[in-house]
Amino acid sequence: MSPLVWDLAHIGNFEELWLLREAAGATAIDPSLDDMYDAFRHPRPNRPALPLLGPTEARRYIAEVRGRVIDTLEQVDLEGTGLPLLTGGFVYGMVVQHEHQHDETMLATLQLMGEPGYRPLAPPPPAGSPVPGDVLVPAGPFTMGTDDEAWAYDNERPAHVVDLPAFRIDAAPVTNGRYMEFVADGGYDEPRWWTDDGWAWRQKADLQAPEFWRAEGGGRWSRNRFGWREDLPLDEPVQHVCWYEADAFAHWAGGRLPTEAEWEKAASWSPEGVKRRWPWGEGDPTAERANLGGARFRPAPVGAYPAGVSAYGCHQMIGDVWEWTSSDFEPYPGFVSFPYREYSEVFFGSGYKVLRGGSWAASPLAVRTTFRNWDYAIRRQIFAGFRCARDA
Ligand code: AVJ
Ligand code: FE
Repeated sequence: MSPLVWDLAHIGNFEELWLLREAAGATAIDPSLDDMYDAFRHPRPNRPALPLLGPTEARRYIAEVRGRVIDTLEQVDLEGTGLPLLTGGFVYGMVVQHEHQHDETMLATLQLMGEPGYRPLAPPPPAGSPVPGDVLVPAGPFTMGTDDEAWAYDNERPAHVVDLPAFRIDAAPVTNGRYMEFVADGGYDEPRWWTDDGWAWRQKADLQAPEFWRAEGGGRWSRNRFGWREDLPLDEPVQHVCWYEADAFAHWAGGRLPTEAEWEKAASWSPEGVKRRWPWGEGDPTAERANLGGARFRPAPVGAYPAGVSAYGCHQMIGDVWEWTSSDFEPYPGFVSFPYREYSEVFFGSGYKVLRGGSWAASPLAVRTTFRNWDYAIRRQIFAGFRCARDA
């Protein structure tokens, strides 16, 4: 991970580059910052050695940028120029989402810190309720991706029709309790559940249970949550499993991970053939519909959001945990890079796996049913879980 102060000033530098320099033609506040906070010039392992702005300087810098951005926003013409960068406020949406994405990354950094750690002042999530095992999504075409979400990224475009065979998909993410059964059944010692790459990684990294779990004897487990140890809540979606673990569990359970197309159809399509903006319909996310925004510092139990269920009956498609899919991160047919190659295009075809739906730490402004996240198959510190699918 990056030092937290790197993320902090990087958020401000990205905002300066796009909203002051690119969109408003301003000159650099301090050109040396552009190099230091360029993610491509300095990969994560090299960032601690940079002469980074300290917390106070970083906060002063980002406040300076934000002040100038607000002044500029008073004058900017979002619709009149016809410039794609400004239309629908796209570049502002891009910067808002970028900040929220780094907020989530910073939470993952805090989660990695040791005990005693960071005390989240989080209200408890709503209680769970019974959820069916899985649901049937009948065969047929649906519209994948979007042309008309103003803040959608280039990798979510263009909208295109995908015809899928019928499949079944879990109505909720896999819980800690269910994942414990896989562990207890020796799932980590059975190469047959794992892909070759997955088994090699399980051996090399000595994976035995999700990150932050600890065996307490008698089959009981605890977890470290932001530096505090607590009993593992059995009805919460499992978090902190890498793609290889998710994939192995799915095989053990007699299924497989869903493709990202299956995931998006189950989350956004309806039997009437209409694409919904959110699983539940058109209304914005609320505390009754999804666990988003980062305030709870944990996923909610399964079945906690009956008001957020998709047309096909899937719970918690948005919020709680990112969900690993079986798909590699690749462009949709007709993809056009916008507004810069380094957001998506340079990552295509590099073995990244797609995650969908957003976690409890994701902002409602930075997730959608069409949003595509991606990460390495070995990554465990992100707030990711999964659900399983089966051929129907
Ligand atoms: C879309 C979450 C994979 O964090 O690497 C942040 C988002 N892009 N700064 C990442 C991003 C540039 C990206 N992910
Ligand atoms: Fe960034």
